[in-house]
Amino acid sequence: NAVVLLGPPGAGKGTVSEVLVGKGYTHVSTGDLLREQIRLETTLGLEAKQRMDQGKFVPDDVVVGMIRDLLQSSDANANFLFDGFPRTLVQAEKLDELIEALSGTLEEVVLLQCPDEVIVERLSGRRTCSKCGMVYHIKYNPAVQEGKCDIEGCELMQRPDDNSETIKKRLDVYKEQTAPLITYYEAKGLIHPIDAAKSIAEVRLAVLARIG
Ligand code: AP5
Ligand code: ZN
Repeated sequence: NAVVLLGPPGAGKGTVSEVLVGKGYTHVSTGDLLREQIRLETTLGLEAKQRMDQGKFVPDDVVVGMIRDLLQSSDANANFLFDGFPRTLVQAEKLDELIEALSGTLEEVVLLQCPDEVIVERLSGRRTCSKCGMVYHIKYNPAVQEGKCDIEGCELMQRPDDNSETIKKRLDVYKEQTAPLITYYEAKGLIHPIDAAKSIAEVRLAVLARIG
């Protein structure tokens, strides 16, 4: 079975996912999967990087292929938490097919709602550990020691797509290509909106109350 976390870039999908992993969900972030391919310098990763650095989407067939491989090699009883997937209507339809083929159910779509100006502040202040992937915010979720990851003390970095120009592009692409999914899932009665402009603790509680 599966749950989808839908919402604009920087709404806090990854941050919310951290607590759901402890509740038995398998976290699947297409952004993380693509960054792993970039790190490994695969052909897929190198092609994806060009688009990601510009705030553009990676082609549907590439992303759907990654998800198909992952679902087919996973335990049939797993509960998936999709973060950043699906992002286009084509991807949403493919996900329905994949879930149906596994006799699973898409149980909920949690929509993290957040105004643009909050998103810009969150993404501009985001810092990520280059080693373990932990996500921080210089103001809302700072590391104990500035610029260093709490886990192993390694260097924190800024994602290449977290600059103001690319953030704006990502917001435009979201509105154009991903926002239509809200209507798609509303028609199926699956959408549950959550006010993601609140604090990290409040947003996590609201999501846990819904699907934890
Ligand atoms: P992806 O990695 O999925 O990026 P995104 O959707 O832009 O989302 P983010 O990871 O930036 O944000 P988030 O919502 O997880 O927020 P976070 O929790 O980090 O995708 C990157 C790129 O890959 C795409 O642009 C595209 O090119 C490609 N791609 C990925 N999936 C694809 C697909 N399906 N199809 C095609 N292309 C695809 O939080 C952000 C910051 O805010 C952090 O610093 C955090 O500490 C802070 N924060 C979080 N919550 C709060 C809160 N409540 N209050 C205060 N601060 C908060
Ligand atoms: Zn780390």
